[in-house]
Amino acid sequence: MNILVTGVSGFLGSHCAYELLSLGHKVIGIDNFSNSNGKQLPVLHSKGDFSFHELDLSNSDDTSKLFKDLDKISCVFHFAGLKAVGESVEIPYNYWSNNLESTFNLVREMLNYDCRSMIFSSSATVYGDSQEQPLIESMPSESLSPYGSTKIAIESFLNDMCQSESLDVVSLRYFNPVGSIKNGDLYEDPFNKPNNIMPRIIRVALGIDETISVFGNDYNTKDGTAERDYIHVMDLIEGHIKAMHFLSANKGFHTFNLGTGDKVSVLKLIDTFESLNNVNIPYKMAPRRDGDVEICYCDPSKALNSMDWECEYTLDDMCLDSWNAVKNLDIKK
Ligand code: WQD
Repeated sequence: MNILVTGVSGFLGSHCAYELLSLGHKVIGIDNFSNSNGKQLPVLHSKGDFSFHELDLSNSDDTSKLFKDLDKISCVFHFAGLKAVGESVEIPYNYWSNNLESTFNLVREMLNYDCRSMIFSSSATVYGDSQEQPLIESMPSESLSPYGSTKIAIESFLNDMCQSESLDVVSLRYFNPVGSIKNGDLYEDPFNKPNNIMPRIIRVALGIDETISVFGNDYNTKDGTAERDYIHVMDLIEGHIKAMHFLSANKGFHTFNLGTGDKVSVLKLIDTFESLNNVNIPYKMAPRRDGDVEICYCDPSKALNSMDWECEYTLDDMCLDSWNAVKNLDIKK
C-alpha cells in the first residue's frame, strides 16, 4: 500500500517508516526538520520504495501543492507535531497553531483525495494527573500543559470527523517510548537538546554530559522517584501496524493505550541501564520538574483484546538496545 508518514525524520516516525518498508509498503515521508536533522533518511531510502518531501504541514498552500503530486494514499501515520511539555508552556501559541493547523491541513487534503484512514500519534499526557492508575482509555482527559491540550483537541476534532463518517482513525496514546531497532540502524538522537530521560542517560554514557539530574525524590513511590510505563519503540511500532489492520476492518474513531502495564522509577531505569551496559551514570537529585506527574502507567488490555497486540520487549531490551545503537557514535559531530 501507499502510506504517508508525517514527522518521518523523527525517532518514532523513522522507526515506523523502516518497519512499513520492511513489510513491503511504499512509504512517502514528510518532515520540516523542526525537531530532527534527517540523518535517518538515507537508511530509509535503502530499505525499499521510500520517497521524501520536506514540508511544513502547518503551511496550507505548500501542503495542498504536495498532495496534488502524490499517488493515492491508503493510510496516513501522523507523527508530526511539537511535543515538549515544558517548551509548550513557554510558547503555547506555537504549539496550538503548529499542531492543530498541521492536522487541519492534512485532514483537508485527505478528504480532497479520498484517503479515509489515519493512525494518530497521541500521548498518555491526555490523562493529565489522574490519581486513578493504571490508566484506561475510557478515563476522562485532563490537560496539564498546552502540549497536552493540543493532543486532547486533535483527538476531539478527529472524533468529530469520524462521527460525520468522513474519516476512520485510531488514536494511539503512547506512554514512554525508549530503545532502538535491534540492528542499530536507527536511534533516538541524543544530540538534539533532548528533554526525555533515555537520551539524557545516553548523553552521560557517551561523556557528553557529566551527570543527569533526577527530578524529584520525594514522590510517594518505592524509591521516591517518579514512575513511568517505558515501552520499547519496536513494541510501539508493532502497535501501529496492528492498528492499521484493525482500522481496515473497523470504521470510526478508536483510542488505544500503548504501554507495557508496568511502572518503573527513574532510579530503577538508571540502575538497569548501568548494570546491563557496564557504564557509570552519575546523577544528582534535583527539585521536581514543572508539569511532571508522580506515576503514569497503563492497562494495555484493550489493545490486546481488540488488536491482538501486546508488548514483547523487556526493560532490559530497552536499556541494551538504546545503548548498542549509539555507543560507537562519534560525539564530536
Ligand atoms: C520521564 C521521567 C522525569 C529527564 C514526556 C511527555 C509525554 C511523551 C513522553 C510525547 C520523569 C524524569 C527526565 C531528566 C529526570 N512525549 N527525568 N531527569 O515527562 O514522562 O513524558 O515524554 O508524547 O507526552 O510528557 O518523559 O522522559 O521527560 O521523563 O529525572 O533529565 O524521567 O521527571 O519522571 P515524561 P521524560
